[in-house]
Amino acid sequence: MIPTAHIEVKEQEIIAKTVLMPGDPLRAKFIADTFLENVEKFNNVRNIFGYTGTYKGRRISVMASGMGMPSIGIYSYELFKFYGVENIIRIGSCGAYTADLNLYDVILASEAWSESTYAKVQGGYDKDVIAASSKLNDKLEKIANDLGIKIHKERIHSSDVFYRENFEEYKDIYKNHGCTVVEMEAFALFHNAKVLGKNAACLLTVSDNLVTHELTTSEERQKSFTNMMKIALELAE
Ligand code: ADE
Repeated sequence: MIPTAHIEVKEQEIIAKTVLMPGDPLRAKFIADTFLENVEKFNNVRNIFGYTGTYKGRRISVMASGMGMPSIGIYSYELFKFYGVENIIRIGSCGAYTADLNLYDVILASEAWSESTYAKVQGGYDKDVIAASSKLNDKLEKIANDLGIKIHKERIHSSDVFYRENFEEYKDIYKNHGCTVVEMEAFALFHNAKVLGKNAACLLTVSDNLVTHELTTSEERQKSFTNMMKIALELAE
């Protein structure tokens, strides 16, 4: 079954059991260039770059997911189902629905709520909340604690829409569903992990605040998301 439609790898072993997934291909490259040794690039299809290397001598892969649930849905499904990947950790940015969260705060998703039809269409799952892997979350919490990095464990909103006509609707989602931040991928990733018997988690860094309208620049984001990356990289095996 390999190579698959979207990943050009001929031997399963080229991809590590644990894959970090930023949305942006250039962030995948940044992680490989900055943190990994013995790097091998394994994917170029659609510029969705994928790399395998070692971190402190342990193997790990990093591959972009693209933006949105259809995109991460494709890549995470192929990695889990056809390439023997056991763990995927999304590392991305999010918008905060509460003034209590500051720019650059690190969020660990306990679960994702979504109005998306992804899980229903993919596998008949008709609820709107899916939990992250508790096994991965326990490890990530311990790592963050050991590194002295504060993380906020939150229920997150996975949205299909970045630009809502009615911007104020975020207030209802915060109030009615308890989501404190918004991103666009975790619900589909968690669903794929669930149907395929694999593990998924999601670490996010706050890039904008919908209440205070504070915003980071793309240059600031590139440099300051390293806390989240350092936590996730410790999962290398
Ligand atoms: N990712 C980062 N900020 C976001 C926002 N405001 N909405 C959706 N996804 C995001």
